[in-house]
Amino acid sequence: MYSVLCTLASPRQIVICQDTFGICNFAVSTGISIRQWGDKVEKEVLTLENVHKTISGRKIIKGISFSIKEGEVLGFLGPNGAGKSTTLRMIVGLSRPSSGKIEICGHSIVKDYVKAMSNVGSIIEGPDLYGYMSGMDNLEMLAAMDRNVTKKDILDAVKLVDMEKHIKDKVNTYSLGMKQRMGLAQAIMKHPKLLILDEPTNGLDPAGINELRNLIKKLSKEEKISVLISSHLIAEIELICDKVSIIKDGSILKNASVDELINTNEVFWQLSDNEKACKILKEQWGISAEIRNGKIEAVIDDEEIIDEINSCFIKEGLKVKFVDIKHKNLEDLFLNITEGK
Ligand SMILES: Nc1ncnc2c1ncn2[C@@H]1O[C@H](COP(=O)(O)OP(=O)(O)OP(=O)(O)O)[C@@H](O)[C@H]1O
Ligand SMILES: [Mg+2]
Repeated sequence: MYSVLCTLASPRQIVICQDTFGICNFAVSTGISIRQWGDKVEKEVLTLENVHKTISGRKIIKGISFSIKEGEVLGFLGPNGAGKSTTLRMIVGLSRPSSGKIEICGHSIVKDYVKAMSNVGSIIEGPDLYGYMSGMDNLEMLAAMDRNVTKKDILDAVKLVDMEKHIKDKVNTYSLGMKQRMGLAQAIMKHPKLLILDEPTNGLDPAGINELRNLIKKLSKEEKISVLISSHLIAEIELICDKVSIIKDGSILKNASVDELINTNEVFWQLSDNEKACKILKEQWGISAEIRNGKIEAVIDDEEIIDEINSCFIKEGLKVKFVDIKHKNLEDLFLNITEGK
């Protein structure tokens, strides 16, 4: 059961109802528009629905949809030129979608731009910092443009990104990792609900990547900030993200949770009668398998049933000559999905 916030004809008349279906029927029959910003949708911080982008007559983004809930980290993966930056630029309002819907915390970025953007912090084309100024001066200058950001917000952000020791130094003395942390401080000091990061690990060394990874986890788990992160480093995505969207040629090929994607095993068997074994897999286990190079290949999510299948083959009079299990990692799956390998 979800609560629904329903605004009636007068802005002062607000009904909060626990019965979703009841209130929806009532609203439809009386023509009242429902802003579904209750328990259910509150958690949907970003929603893209059938978003298209055409630039100079060329279709760059072809009807993509995905969503992020509160505190979730979504990895946006795709080969070079797939359309990741184009999508992120539309979400932060640097370019307009040609059609489709983008909502941030229930606010359309087209119809309600200021409210939508008040919930977003981002690093799109690297952090925007003046090298000749100190880190603190950079943050204070940016904060001066947003009257909601207080001195305490700045100090909290500096602490969160662990830059207290260097905040009075000039930015051009900072390492790349420190600049990235400053970019994050800029993005989080206004307490965004959604953080958008385009390739934030670019150019960082392994220690810098590790630091950034821990920081992103901290922001999502402790501060409940939702994060949309594009990256080429698939192993990183696997470690940081709750779910992934894989994009290629402007279309989403897969939206799935990381657990769902990596909890799969590729199993190879060689038996005395491979065709009979395939039939048993299909009829008794509901598993589709193929025979390639004299071996049966099947994808099986639950590793525990593999032993049971082996026992079943033996009971059916088959000899198991060879069995091998390959755990799939996100990189294998990414290549499978984007290159059809
Ligand atoms: N302003 C533009 N004018 C024309 N084409 C553009 C423009 N911006 C992007 N494109 C094209 O759109 C496609 C997607 O580009 P985009 O930068 O979104 O890819 P990406 O997934 O971010 O790639 P990368 O991994 O290299 O950063 C590319 O073919 C690019 O050439
Ligand atoms: Mg890009």
